[in-house]
Amino acid sequence: MTAHSASTSLVLDALLKRSSTDALVGPVPQGDVLYRILSAGLRAPDHGKLRPWRYVVISGEAREALAQEVHAAIERQEPDLPAAKKEKRVGRFRSMPMIIGLGMHLHPDHKIPLEEQHMSVAAGAMNVLNALSLEGFGGVWVSGPFCEDREFLQHLGLETPHRLAGFLFVGTPQHPDHVTRRPDIEDYMAIWQGAGSASFAADRSKN
Ligand SMILES: Cc1cc2nc3c(=O)[nH]c(=O)nc-3n(C[C@H](O)[C@H](O)[C@H](O)COP(=O)(O)O)c2cc1C
Repeated sequence: MTAHSASTSLVLDALLKRSSTDALVGPVPQGDVLYRILSAGLRAPDHGKLRPWRYVVISGEAREALAQEVHAAIERQEPDLPAAKKEKRVGRFRSMPMIIGLGMHLHPDHKIPLEEQHMSVAAGAMNVLNALSLEGFGGVWVSGPFCEDREFLQHLGLETPHRLAGFLFVGTPQHPDHVTRRPDIEDYMAIWQGAGSASFAADRSKN
């Protein structure tokens, strides 16, 4: 095994071990480390070089202001939701060590379809989650109907037609050795050998 392939498999091992978690504490990535992690997002495939990624970083005292914005959005959208449910959704924005909004800077009338622009943002978010994990941090991608609230988005710097793909909760995992059970790749791939030859074990009934 060459030196290069040895180090490559170490990185791949780390990617295969990554899992999402919201059991997060400090410290959070800061300074150059944060810049490097978010720069990984800007390495995502990007048809037409539209650069749709926008990262809104929220930490420290700004978390309380964000929580209030989330609460206001939920009040506008679902005023009849029980108070306990509202507080459950909002409380996480107060307690997570860091939150990163996944802004989508979109070009609706561009020849590159909107769906491809969304996918580039999603690919960037995955790179950020992987980079966090590789640097010893952790996170989870969350969303909710409030991510569609126009006033909320405007307060995050996302004017129409820009949107929000959700948030990453970010911090240091409380249980770094937690192992998540994963599906088996053999159920999710097919070697194509001509029309009609591809089928997936994941789609067959398992009796
Ligand atoms: C666009 C998007 C939105 C998501 N929103 C939520 C959410 O609101 N709440 C939640 O518990 N998980 C949500 N998830 C799932 C988690 O981010 C995560 O994928 C899941 O917990 C499985 O963890 P894993 O990444 O270790 O497989 C979302 C995932 C995506 C891609």
